[in-house]
Amino acid sequence: MNHRFERVAIVGAGLVGAGWAIVFARAGQSVSIYDAQYAARASVLDWIADSLSEMERCGLIRDVPGIMARITVAGSLEDAVGEADYIQESVFERVDVKREISHAIGAAMRADAIVGSSSSGIPASEFTSNVAKRERFIVAHPVNPPHLIPLVEIVPAPWTDPSIAPMLRDFMESAGQKPIVLSREIAGFVLNRLQGALLNEAWALFDAGIATAADIDRSVSDGLGMRWSFMGPFETIDLNAPGGVTDYAERLGDLYHSIAMDRQFPARWSPDLVARVAAERRQALPLEDLSGRCGWRDKMLMALTAHRTTSHEGDNAKPDIT
Ligand SMILES: NC(=O)c1ccc[n+]([C@@H]2O[C@H](COP(=O)([O-])OP(=O)(O)OC[C@H]3O[C@@H](n4cnc5c(N)ncnc54)[C@H](O)[C@@H]3O)[C@@H](O)[C@H]2O)c1
Repeated sequence: MNHRFERVAIVGAGLVGAGWAIVFARAGQSVSIYDAQYAARASVLDWIADSLSEMERCGLIRDVPGIMARITVAGSLEDAVGEADYIQESVFERVDVKREISHAIGAAMRADAIVGSSSSGIPASEFTSNVAKRERFIVAHPVNPPHLIPLVEIVPAPWTDPSIAPMLRDFMESAGQKPIVLSREIAGFVLNRLQGALLNEAWALFDAGIATAADIDRSVSDGLGMRWSFMGPFETIDLNAPGGVTDYAERLGDLYHSIAMDRQFPARWSPDLVARVAAERRQALPLEDLSGRCGWRDKMLMALTAHRTTSHEGDNAKPDIT
């Protein structure tokens, strides 16, 4: 890796930006955070400290004070990004907002810095075309929360300097993340296209009255997801037939083709359909309990990460704890 990634700036201190701060400070980088909203700047360190304490309780990290000492909050964008080697942009998922902040970052950053956008699905070419130093911009899309789920999708724009994706991949690996690199831009990237395929089928099954939202969820949480927490769909089917993936395709290819033929006309998630799923969800989980349930999710993820770390699962194991 011939680019130094010692000083990292985070622009946008929401859920994702705050999680990124933990990722990089945990890996030893010094991290400077900036958010346009005073309230976000004022509260982000408390949120990070609480999350780190919880992670320490689960055995995922040590030396919380040492990690906290590497994180500062900047009073301006220029202060945050001016000296940074790497900038992780994590502002709202809107093209106009991403375009405006990319212009501001391009004007304030060093010529050799790299900017990764947390964009969930908007390709960098849609918001960096007229930006200064646009060849230094790329997408580095995490999964929420990035300090507990390691995947990062690295997606270069057509004008991104070709040396950046491999350098960023190495950097993310060294920080304990699990990067994948896409060969070119596609809306939604890989992760949200896979999630979208599953969600579209889930909405359609619910709409047709085949099962309740809770039972559709259970088919993932107590079925597919058990395997998916340590291997992907191709490895899953490779292990599900004696002759591997070729055998599986021969046995079940026709079934999957007929399922695909069922869904030839993409349907929108209509307001009525969303309202019916929301009614079931709100009965199961009142809105005021949503953030508590996010805390439960994060604890489950920490327990899962601890299990993966101690069970030595080769590729999927986390690196040594800090
Ligand atoms: N939440 C998720 O599940 C998730 C997962 C992966 C990626 N992402 C992506 O990460 C990005 C951030 O998402 P989030 O969920 O953290 O959103 P969020 O709403 O929690 O936080 C966004 C933050 O950006 C700040 N901001 C907005 N404009 C700004 C500007 N011009 N300068 C500085 N700060 C600014 C806001 O004040 C806010 O604190 C989005 O692109 C999103 O799509 C989100």
